[in-house]
Amino acid sequence: MKKITIAIDGFSSTGKSTLAKQLAAALGYVYVDTGAMYRAVAYFAMQHNLVSETHLDKLGLIAELPNINLRFQFNSTLGFAEIYLNNENIETQIRTIEVSRMVSKVAEVSEVRAKLVEQQQAMGQDKGIVMDGRDIGTVVFPEAELKLFMNASSKTRAQRRFDELIAKGQHVTFEEVIHNVEERDYIDTHRDDSPLVKAADAIEIDNSAMSKTEQFELVLKLVQEKF
Ligand code: DC
Repeated sequence: MKKITIAIDGFSSTGKSTLAKQLAAALGYVYVDTGAMYRAVAYFAMQHNLVSETHLDKLGLIAELPNINLRFQFNSTLGFAEIYLNNENIETQIRTIEVSRMVSKVAEVSEVRAKLVEQQQAMGQDKGIVMDGRDIGTVVFPEAELKLFMNASSKTRAQRRFDELIAKGQHVTFEEVIHNVEERDYIDTHRDDSPLVKAADAIEIDNSAMSKTEQFELVLKLVQEKF
């Protein structure tokens, strides 16, 4: 069967990765979480004191880019590919509120974006891929056969992220989480390089009042229409 490219973009915590994983499993496609790549760069920058709440050493980060090696490795127990930074599995370390606070700042740097976009395009060159992020349908794969743009109210999204963090045993308040979600929305939509925008040919899905199953069934129909 013909393979296609599926691009899923949208705001933070709109369930992009859940949907992308479901689709990849159903279609036998590769799933790539590009947010994990930006988070990994932010984690590296934090470890090397290149970023903090109040500053970003942009030139220092750009100079370190050749020393940042990212790869994904499929974990059959978990059913998705985990991210490795310089051969260290950092899947857990990148999902903290601290990394969420720094990541949009790091993702504004054009040199960071250029490096990651090149790697993402290489991963998708044979199609048969579901990739989620902020600029997949607009910059990484403007020719993707199916583009989805996910949205939900910021309160719904913050509640989902809060529940996830609490389930992982992290100590956060709902106010901290909603503040972070809204701040990232602002930075992601206002940056100069590749801001989050809906591609003209993307299909918008607001899943505020949709179950994961309902959403998956809706999208699977859209995929089937492409074959
Ligand atoms: O999908 P996520 O919430 O894990 O992404 C983390 C951050 O990375 C997000 O706030 C913006 C940035 N990002 C980006 O700029 N471009 C992408 N393709 C994916 C993520």
